[in-house]
Amino acid sequence: MAEPLFACRDVAMDFGTRRVLEGVSLAAHAGEVLGVVGPNGAGKTTLFEILSGRLRPATGQVLFDGIDVTAEPIHLRARRGIARTYQSPVVPEALAVGEVLKAARQAYAPYLTAHHAEWAASRVGLTVPHDVVAGSLGTLDRRRLLLACLLMRRPRVLLMDEPAAGLIDAEVDVIDGIVDTLARELNVAVLLVEHRLELLASIADRVLVLDAGRPIAEGSPHRVFDEPQVRAAYFEADPA
Ligand SMILES: Nc1ncnc2c1ncn2[C@@H]1O[C@H](COP(=O)(O)OP(=O)(O)OP(=O)(O)O)[C@@H](O)[C@H]1O
Ligand SMILES: [Mg+2]
Repeated sequence: MAEPLFACRDVAMDFGTRRVLEGVSLAAHAGEVLGVVGPNGAGKTTLFEILSGRLRPATGQVLFDGIDVTAEPIHLRARRGIARTYQSPVVPEALAVGEVLKAARQAYAPYLTAHHAEWAASRVGLTVPHDVVAGSLGTLDRRRLLLACLLMRRPRVLLMDEPAAGLIDAEVDVIDGIVDTLARELNVAVLLVEHRLELLASIADRVLVLDAGRPIAEGSPHRVFDEPQVRAAYFEADPA
């Protein structure tokens, strides 16, 4: 198989004197969905902060397309095509949807036109009128709007931190479809933090399981979720 598009090697992270990640390695190819799971506090979001460039790891490397980007700040990684979404879909409450899309494309590249925004909105199924105020959108449309803003930039790697949080089952299916489109049609390497294992089982090619900052399993979802160590750490520890 070709070299992975995005990878990290032996990442460790400390908050003060507390080690919250240790020995974490992963690799994702273009067009692949890699699930990252683990109980609350396992270090999933911290790992995403390191992969996106908001935090520098204590040790270890982050590699994009074979280049060591560990020391590169978040905005330069974004330019390379590494995008991320956050657990809470925070939108500019007072702006209209059209204004948010316009601001996103102009901030990124003035040459992007309204057609790019239309294309991105359609790929994520954002159909609300552009004069609707973003602050009035429900959780799913907020996530769609934020994804459309990212998609205009044609990301090559997308880190999604709990994109199904706060959604009802029918809406989770929509997210499932969007992830599928991003990976299979747009060839994005998608890294997905998700608590709902059934969602991952249906869309992830592989999953990485973290427990207390350490990787405890990696492989196809069905095999990994059956491992006794994973069942003990995840199913029995997670109250969700
Ligand atoms: N900025 C910070 N300063 C100090 N400790 C932090 C900070 N951010 C996270 N932590 C701690 O690091 C550990 C990992 O947190 P993290 O948010 O990465 O976990 P998570 O797997 O994303 O959890 P959840 O499923 O609840 O989102 C937790 O013990 C958390 O309390
Ligand atoms: Mg988290």
